Amino acid sequence: MQRTEYCGLIDQTYIDKQIIVKGWVHRRRDLGGLIFFDLRDREGLLQIIVNPDSPCFNTALELKHEYVVEVHGLVRTRPNPNHELKTGLIEVVAQSVIILNSAAPLPILVDDPTTSETNRMTHRIIDLRSQKMQKNLRLRYQIAKTMRNFLDESGFIDIETPFLTLSTPGGARDFLVPSRMHKGKFYALPQSPQIFKQLFMVAGFDRYYQIIRCFRDEELRADRQPEFTQVDIETSFLDEEEIRNINENMLRHVFKQLLNVELPQFPVMTYTDAMYYYGSDKPDLRIPLKFVDLTTPMKNCGFKVFNHAANLENGQGRIAALTLPNNVTLSRKEIDELTKFVGIYGAKGLAYIKVNDISKPNEEGLQSPIVKFLNTNELTSILELCGASNGSTVLIIADKAKVVNEALGALRLKLGYEKNLLNNQEWAPLWVIDFPMFEYDENTRHYAPAHHAFTAPKDEHVELLNSNPAVCLAKAYDMVLNGSEIGGGSVRIHKADIQAKVFAAMNLTPDEAKQKFGYLLDNLQFGAPPHGGIAFGLDRVAAIMCKADSIRDVIALPKTTTGQCLLTNAPNYVDDAQLNELGINHGIKP
Ligand code: AMO
Ligand code: AMP
Repeated sequence: MQRTEYCGLIDQTYIDKQIIVKGWVHRRRDLGGLIFFDLRDREGLLQIIVNPDSPCFNTALELKHEYVVEVHGLVRTRPNPNHELKTGLIEVVAQSVIILNSAAPLPILVDDPTTSETNRMTHRIIDLRSQKMQKNLRLRYQIAKTMRNFLDESGFIDIETPFLTLSTPGGARDFLVPSRMHKGKFYALPQSPQIFKQLFMVAGFDRYYQIIRCFRDEELRADRQPEFTQVDIETSFLDEEEIRNINENMLRHVFKQLLNVELPQFPVMTYTDAMYYYGSDKPDLRIPLKFVDLTTPMKNCGFKVFNHAANLENGQGRIAALTLPNNVTLSRKEIDELTKFVGIYGAKGLAYIKVNDISKPNEEGLQSPIVKFLNTNELTSILELCGASNGSTVLIIADKAKVVNEALGALRLKLGYEKNLLNNQEWAPLWVIDFPMFEYDENTRHYAPAHHAFTAPKDEHVELLNSNPAVCLAKAYDMVLNGSEIGGGSVRIHKADIQAKVFAAMNLTPDEAKQKFGYLLDNLQFGAPPHGGIAFGLDRVAAIMCKADSIRDVIALPKTTTGQCLLTNAPNYVDDAQLNELGINHGIKP
């Protein structure tokens, strides 16, 4: 017989009604002759009662965890309501219980918070039965659907791009696929559809989107997977701000539709400011701490560590401080631990000043291992700049700017989360704009594109592309939400000569550029319109909206941090015959 309703949707309006429900036995309790069990389906749990005089009592006695059953019964008010449960005000008196399937003893329990992540991944299909995973995957689906609708209504069309494509240099490592018909040659799985979507603009489609898997063989973390999903977008004839507006409106729409949240107008921050105040290009603005820069004020100070950092060549050094609110005190042990923590990021020390009496800026009023190295004027100026008062703790790192930004930036996040310093803003979105065009790679001694090689320089910086690439800024933007980069994009280069200059800055010869990107360069010559776009990391957007700790919790079948699928045991060895066919030498075998 057909189900009349999902378990989790039955409420008081069903009282005295006959229902048929189907689902899994979540838990069974026998209470003095009565049998209670919770039946679970995708909508939630429902309490079923079987009386001892019921014809289905014997069947109910057989029920075990995760048996699949059909129940016919009458809904009634629950004498002892459970306000924790959506259906907690009612229960169902069973008239018939039909076992549709039994279940072997389970390796993990559904919805058991103590199950390790390895066990959850290995027994993923059972894990997916949990209310959390059901809810997360449904919200993820709704985010994708809402974005699709928004883009569709804004005139974007979905065009598919190939998965078997050409390996492109730069970015992360490619996943390669050997070609059987062209032995020795390889396809690569796309790291993103970047070049194809640009070519669609050249082809005149004007507005493209795709919700599409991307593949990157990179070191994995909580917010990175080897295959992940982008909401990939490209449009012609719009400038940076116009593209940002469409995408900001899309995110606002998604939050309104799905969480009933009105996001504020997104603040716009330059990359330079983000690094200056937060040491990060994805600042979590829910943490109210900002760096105070002490580099210039400490240029002539007597403390050699500070003096050295402040006077490093080419302004490579930096001294920056964080002032903790007066209600946060750090014990000696905590400071030692934090010193170790910043050491992970290369910081050689963590100076602190605890202010006991601000009117005595010396060893009497301040508790600090560096007081003895600084004179009263220097100490006064640090305390003033840091906005310190009695009870404040100031934490300072001096080093190369990169180390200071990473170490103090990580410290800011750690203290912000662990000391509960978050402001009352639940959602803190922002745009970070005006990224540098290039990053200098110390290993190869070449400039590499900071975003990707097709990002346009600011109009006024075109001349700098080859003369001074280090200071050249890009028409690039990232969308950041609660400290996570959820999307990134740029206005693209639409002229072949400027594209050639960027390749030259990256030290690619015209021949190499032609070999690797010929299909883009050729087509840029045939009337490419100005264009640009963005790609959102759908997994990250979903994880943040679900308040999940990791994107693995919003992906049905994710990989571990070592790139394995514990459900299927991929990757794995293959037969020699399969390798022969591909013309590949027999690989490493156990
Ligand atoms: P980018 O490389 O910044 O840009 O990627 C866009 C967004 O995708 C998400 N993301 C990831 N999510 C999970 N796992 C990963 N390994 C991973 N890598 C990236 C991030 C990121 O912001 N073609 C350009 C976009 C463009 O210029 O239009 C691109 O791929 O949320
Ligand atoms: P030292 O002279 O090495 O004993 O350092 C004195 C104090 O300066 C200690 O509290 C160190 O933690 C701190 N310190 C050392 N190096 C740095 C640094 N790079 N940045 C900030 N503080 C530092």
